[in-house]
Amino acid sequence: MKKLFLSLLTLAVALPSQAAETRTLPAPVITGGMPLMEAINARQSGRDFSARPVDDQTLGEILWVAWGQNTRGKRTIATARNLQNMQLYLATPEGAWKYHGATHSLEKVTDENLIPYCTKQDFVPKAPVHLIYAIEDNTRGHNHVGSAYQNVYLYATWKGLSCVIRGMIDIPALNKALRLPEGQTVALHQCLGWPENK
Ligand SMILES: Cc1cc2nc3c(=O)[nH]c(=O)nc-3n(C[C@H](O)[C@H](O)[C@H](O)COP(=O)(O)O)c2cc1C
Repeated sequence: MKKLFLSLLTLAVALPSQAAETRTLPAPVITGGMPLMEAINARQSGRDFSARPVDDQTLGEILWVAWGQNTRGKRTIATARNLQNMQLYLATPEGAWKYHGATHSLEKVTDENLIPYCTKQDFVPKAPVHLIYAIEDNTRGHNHVGSAYQNVYLYATWKGLSCVIRGMIDIPALNKALRLPEGQTVALHQCLGWPENK
């Protein structure tokens, strides 16, 4: 018995602890911007992406407008019965990260590159920012995604970023790679980046 206990102890010490990898984002600047009516009037989908990277401040603001928490502790979008049951992931070539609005931070959930599961169109791999929206199947999840992606479109319009919401993705592969529990599913993908002329 003592021998078994010692073996288990040795194994536990030998195994690397899976410390969660997290990234805290710079606080969003929540003043200023383009007049709302002008942003709505100028909103459009853009599929032209240059190699210019998107800085962390801009990335954080994209995530915040989609699914962040405002200064009154409310989400930036409404959710049915205030369930707040949408998940927002950022996919990068190094893996995927889950966005946490309460802490305005990203938590790594996989080292797998999920971008290939989103690339049914040639322009997609050129985009530096990839948002993946996941919902609970039997709720009003699609409405929540719609609110979030529209906020992102309006922010992108103000900043001059190319942005497009996309449904041409491999949903079963993404669900599997993100290890989503039963009842949850990926809904849409939204990619952003600076256009060539910016
Ligand atoms: C639910 C949804 C799915 C979409 N899927 C794609 C897509 O897979 N690929 C794409 O290039 N655009 C996609 N779009 C963008 C539409 O093609 C675009 O909004 C439409 O052509 C109108 O253009 P606009 O956004 O510039 O007004 C999608 C839009 C929505 C709302």
